[in-house]
Amino acid sequence: MNAMEKEHRETAPGFRQRLGSALVLPLTQRLARLFSADAAAPAEDAAVAAGSIDALPAVFLAAAVPDPLYIFGPDAEILHANEAADRAFGPVARGASLRLKFRAPEMHELVGKAVAGNEASVAINYSERVPVERAYRVVASRIGNETGLFVLLFKDQSEARRIDRMRADFIANASHELRTPLASIAGFIETLRGPARDDPVARENFLQIMHNQTQRMARLIDDLLSLSRLEMKPYLKPGGQIDVVRLVEGVIEATRHLAGEYGVVIESTLPDAPIPIAGNPDELTQVFENLLENACKYGGAGGRIQVSAEQKNPLEEVRVTVRDFGPGIAEEHIPRITERFYRVDVETSRAQKGTGLGLSIVKHILTRHDARLSVRSKPGEGAAFTVHFPPVPPAARG
Ligand SMILES: Nc1ncnc2c1ncn2[C@@H]1O[C@H](COP(=O)(O)OP(=O)(O)O)[C@@H](O)[C@H]1O
Ligand SMILES: [Mg+2]
Repeated sequence: MNAMEKEHRETAPGFRQRLGSALVLPLTQRLARLFSADAAAPAEDAAVAAGSIDALPAVFLAAAVPDPLYIFGPDAEILHANEAADRAFGPVARGASLRLKFRAPEMHELVGKAVAGNEASVAINYSERVPVERAYRVVASRIGNETGLFVLLFKDQSEARRIDRMRADFIANASHELRTPLASIAGFIETLRGPARDDPVARENFLQIMHNQTQRMARLIDDLLSLSRLEMKPYLKPGGQIDVVRLVEGVIEATRHLAGEYGVVIESTLPDAPIPIAGNPDELTQVFENLLENACKYGGAGGRIQVSAEQKNPLEEVRVTVRDFGPGIAEEHIPRITERFYRVDVETSRAQKGTGLGLSIVKHILTRHDARLSVRSKPGEGAAFTVHFPPVPPAARG
């Protein structure tokens, strides 16, 4: 036995006693007691005060762990629960059985294995359905070699699972969106090789359809790349100041042609004076292009689009609104239209060369700008999309 081990053995019972007496008190009192002069041998207190790691009380360590943690003995009796554990699973009486607290068979097996002590630590996945669904990775480990104490630590993985699920859904959606035009192209290739081989009129027709489908795939890939580029730098704050009035005017000019195709007139109420905002001009151009295009495509039936920009005073937010007078959006769809691939009507969106990604790109870009999108609509009366930008304080204006 080396010197370290020897010392460990000698201090273990004392440590348990101290831990035991400290455990019955509420945390604040426990901490006070452990710090107070009469808590333990004066030499040990001095060591704690000096930050000596050897005398660090387990409850201090447990309190510093942000994840739920239990310290238990060889009979699976709970000796200590940290505050995170009380919050996550409710308070427990000291000495209560872990096996009663967590009745799942896999937890019993885990605790059993830890106590049997063949491995220093064992882990399982554990989930709770009530009150909310939570998924944990739970690790049970022996504390030291001879303490007769064990620790049960819960790592909350719910958020990571949710993100995994979202990613899987996204990949499934993206693949499906690409597969549809691909299947159509493959079908027409077969037809061109077989029945339509000697039919020049049909061939021209099919080639045109195939061309449209490849363009649809290209648009989808462009949008997917835009999204992934934005996701790679979600917090990069766009530097520089721009005049949002000029930017919006530029987008209106660029959209007039499309508006003409839809028989839509764009009216604008923009102030003469510039309104500075902090932002990246290319990204913000993409935002307003998307909103104006949507207004033409989905709200074109109303015959006109109104674009306005205002800032009540230099300390208030800047609002830019794109309003159409088309069919509008039913209330239940409004919270979802910025989701990826969400479309109120898939066929209409396809017919309008939509990918279902436009508004999610808009939302991403605005988040990066500390800005947000709000949508108001009454079915039958059109839809208004407003972008809210934080003000640039007068002192910071360049
Ligand atoms: N101005 C609007 N009026 C009615 N519906 C709209 C309008 N703008 C967007 N939408 C609905 O929101 C959906 C999502 O828009 P978007 O993300 O730009 O995708 P896309 O235009 O590619 O379909 C559209 O498919 C459409 O159903
Ligand atoms: Mg769109």
